[in-house]
This record gives sequence, C-alpha cells and structure tokens, in this order.
Amino acid sequence: MAAYEYETHTYDAIVVGAGGSGLRATLGLAEQGLKTACITKVFPTRSHTVAAQGGIAASLSNMGPDHWQWHMYDTVKGSDWLGDTDAMEYLAREAPKAVYELEHYGVPFSRTEEGKIYQRPFGGHTTEFGEGPPVQRTCAAADRTGHAILHTLYGQSLKQKAEFYIEYFAIDLIMSEDGQCQGVVAWKLDDGTMHVFNAKMVVLATGGYGRAYFSATSAHTCTGDGGGMVARQGLKLQDMEFVQFHPTGIYGAGCLITEGARGEGGYLTNSEGERFMERYAPTYKDLASRDVVSRCMTMEIREGRGVGPKKDHIHLNLNHLPPETLDLRLPGITESARIFAGVDLTKEPIPVQPTVHYNMGGIPTNYWGEVLNPTDENPDAIVPGLMAVGEAGCASVHGANRLGSNSLIDLVVFGRAAAIKAGEIVDPNTENAPLNQASVDAAFDRFDKLRNANGGTPTAALRLEMQEAMQADAAVFRTDKTLAEGVEAMTKIAAKLDDLKVTDRSLVWNSDLMETLELTNLMPNALATIVSAEARKESRGAHAHEDYPDRNDTDWRKHSLAVVTGSKVDLTYRPVHMDPLTTQDQGGIDMSKIAPKKRVY
Ligand code: FUM
Repeated sequence: MAAYEYETHTYDAIVVGAGGSGLRATLGLAEQGLKTACITKVFPTRSHTVAAQGGIAASLSNMGPDHWQWHMYDTVKGSDWLGDTDAMEYLAREAPKAVYELEHYGVPFSRTEEGKIYQRPFGGHTTEFGEGPPVQRTCAAADRTGHAILHTLYGQSLKQKAEFYIEYFAIDLIMSEDGQCQGVVAWKLDDGTMHVFNAKMVVLATGGYGRAYFSATSAHTCTGDGGGMVARQGLKLQDMEFVQFHPTGIYGAGCLITEGARGEGGYLTNSEGERFMERYAPTYKDLASRDVVSRCMTMEIREGRGVGPKKDHIHLNLNHLPPETLDLRLPGITESARIFAGVDLTKEPIPVQPTVHYNMGGIPTNYWGEVLNPTDENPDAIVPGLMAVGEAGCASVHGANRLGSNSLIDLVVFGRAAAIKAGEIVDPNTENAPLNQASVDAAFDRFDKLRNANGGTPTAALRLEMQEAMQADAAVFRTDKTLAEGVEAMTKIAAKLDDLKVTDRSLVWNSDLMETLELTNLMPNALATIVSAEARKESRGAHAHEDYPDRNDTDWRKHSLAVVTGSKVDLTYRPVHMDPLTTQDQGGIDMSKIAPKKRVY
C-alpha cells in the first residue's frame, strides 16, 4: 500500500470543478448555509465556461413573442427525441428565472435600447413550435457571455463564504462499501501535498471530454475527469456516442467562432460562393441545428466544393455586417479571427470547419443532478451522496444533439437545481460518516502506480494515438466499417495504459503526472463513445450513421449505458423519460406538439 501523508477536510458539500455549473452549485449550496468547498484544477475564472461566447437561452420575450413551451419544443426536436421529457421541461421552464437571477447577481448582459437583456437568434430556436420564424432567445453579453457569467458567480460564491481549493486535482471518489459517495482524494498541484475531502454530498462539475479528440474547441483541461472517476467505480456513462461538432471552428486552430455570428446575419459559402444552406434547410438556412449544419458543410467538402488549396473547409462571411455590429456584438471573434486565422473580418471571410465542441453524453442523472445507477429493476436508481451537473452530467436535456446556447442555461439551471436538492438531503447538524479507508487507500495506490509508471509508452504519445483514432473513426459521419475499426483501435490503445511511462516522479507541479491522470480519465470516456456508437444502428442527432441513415424510434429511442472496465465496455440501455412534469391542464405542454416526427429545418 502506498504511504502518503494527507490532510483531511470535512464539509457538508464539495463541488469538483469551478466552471458555470460548479460555481452555480457552489453558490446555491453556500447561500443555504451549508459548509461548502469547491475543488478545482484551474483558477475558477480560467475554467472552460470562460470560453463560451454566444449566449444563454431563455424565453424572456425581450425581442418579440416567446414561450417556455416553444423553447421546450425546440429542445425536444434538437435532441432528436432522445432527451428526457421531464428534464427538458424543467430546463425550459426554469430558464427565465435562472437568467434573471444571474442578472441580479450582476452579470453585465448586453442591453436593448429600452435597457432589457439583449437576445440574439441561435440555430434551432424557433417560434410557434417550429412553424414560425427564428426567435431571438439567446441572452448575450456581447460574445463573451461565459466570461461574464463565470466572473460574477465566482464573486458571489466568495461573498457567500464558499471555500475554494484552487489547483487541486481530484484523483478519485471515495465510496463506502454499500455504494454511497463519501468524498474525494485530491493532490495539490503547487506544493505536492495530498488531501482527503469528506463530504455528505459530492457534486461533480468537471466538464466534458473534448480533448479525447485531436481538434476541439474545448480547452486542454477538458479531460472528462468526472466521467473517469465514475467509470473507475463501475458506474455507468450514458449516451456517449453523441458528440457535437460545432460548424464554425477556425480551420486548423480549432478555436470557436460563435454561432452568434450567424445569429447576427453571418452566412456560410462554398467554393462557388453559394449559400449552400439554403438548399439543405430552406426555412432556417444557416440557423438550422448544429448537427445539421456540420453535416451539410461536410457534404459540401466531400463533393468537392470546399474552399482553400485542399478544398477542405468552408467560408463564414461577416464582411457585409455594419462595423458597429461587429464592434458591439462580436468583438471577441473579431479578435480571434485576426489572431488565429489572420483575417480582418470586415473584409474577408473566416475559414471554418466542423470541430468537436460538446459531449451530449456523460454521467447519468435525474433533473435534480442526482447520479443514477440504472438497473433493469430500477432504471432511475440513485447513487447516494453523488451528483453531476453541466457537461459532465447527462440529465438528459440535450439527447442526441444540443442546441446552441442551451449549454450555458443547462449549467445554471441544473447547478441551481443540484444545490436546491442537496439542501433538502444534507443535514448540516449531523456528523459526517467515517470514511471507507479501503477506498481512500485505493486512490493513493492508483496515484502511486501512475507516478512510478515505468513502461514503454509516454503519456503524450498514447494521448495522440487516442485523439487521432477518435478523430478518424468517431467523426461527423460514421459507418459500420469506420466504427468497427475505431473499436478495434481504441481497445488496443486503451490496453496500453498498462504500459505508460512517466518520467517525472516529483509531486510539485508535475505536469507529466497530471497529464497522465487526465489521460486515465479521457480513455474510458473515449472508449465508451466509440463502443456505444458502434452499437447504435440508426442515425439520430449527432450520430450520423451512413449505413443506417434514418432514425429508428422503435428500436433505438433509448439511452445507451456503458460500463468501462480496463479496455472492455459493457453496454445496456435505459428507457427515455416520456412524461412531462406537468400536464397541459396544469399549464404544461400540449404533448401532441412534441410527438416524434421527421426532423427538418
Ligand atoms: O456558438 C457559440 O457561441 C457556442 C454556444 C454553445 O455551445 O452553446
């Protein structure tokens, strides 16, 4: 057994991760008087939410008529009928409240002439249950909305006396023998000390795993740490095959050009200068849903109408927009285009290509953020003491495809919901249960084994192999052949985790070891993705399977569940929640409006 000295910290609740959902949960927990800590591997305001640009969806009706039922319909359709109906209702209903709370906390939203929160159009957001024109539903702080939200929530959390453990890397969950989560073991990166956190509730807010791919808009810190920790406890990951490609990542660099650019009037063209989206999505054109736009761009490139010397990307045109609009509404991407594409967007188009952006799948939860351990007898069974929110979780509101600006609202609605629920469950007046020492020791043993890993495969080399395999075989379009090849490749790649070589054995600022821990988190996420994708014999949302081009609701309107053990993945399924929270006579949605149908834009 590895002998590490450690300090023990005791809290009512700990949150792992300080992005939008983690900070919203931290704030909500601390506001209720719970002794709360937030553990984060990066400084809170450097969490990946800071990169969110275009905005946060809520039916405020500031720019024209809107209703939460229309937002719910768009989310259901966007999810390609895989989202859980109760969770999607909760999201759309609670969204306006959650945004006004943000406003009152101090988020500096852009304003209309009358001083209301400015809202812009985003893809897939419509009026009249998809029958009317696009709606302006996405509340924006210029094109730096995530930055504005993150700074505000961090300030508010400090005001509520939440405690922050900054640059602490969470290694593993501590689980009791009977399956209750009791805390986490963490490594303090800047001084090498080890820490054990005992908490009555652990909230995982660790973000997505975009870095399982070679080219992603996600920060290099997006390594699926929560999914990795959950997978190591034998718990399930849900709907991992659904990986979103954002249509407009800068060609080569991968960084995001917000969908707000198209919301403000930008449009895509091919090598013939044609606005090709008019052919594919005659009603909503460039404002069709993301999976649709990414597929259309890929088809244009495949058919030889891509731009550039290799004809392998597309142009995003903004040079027809008034310079004042660019200055006021899109200053961030004006700068990104200049720095990362060398383009003055008042004069030239931006070269863009579909780029990995978001994981619809993740740790299965209910709409309160409670982690599920679904069984045949009880598909909604709960793991006591454990919650997951934000991109790490899968509530599931995004189903097979997320609408743009539904991510930031997911972060705050479900971060807030988790805090409310934890407030009901956690009794601040009881003692914390003693920790299961075997589980603590297991975390230190794993850490020590990786620290002393002396095989033949450097971490960076194995990570690159994984990223290239995922990029090639779990792409925008998939076939039986590419997916089978992907499963074979990834199974071999995952097995090489046993042959890792770590060269730095120190404990202080050891980025070699930290990246190794991150790789052990990325790998189960990546493996679950390719295996779940290979098994799903239909096309739905972001899972575009060329051998099965149609959605098949009879056989496949169900959530995939993956248990990852080493390089092996076992799949089961759980039913989609079909029932809303409220019926139409209780003010809820008319269910006939959200009945499955062909998804056209
Ligand atoms: O395009 C964007 O601004 C990204 C928004 C989102 O992913 O929700």
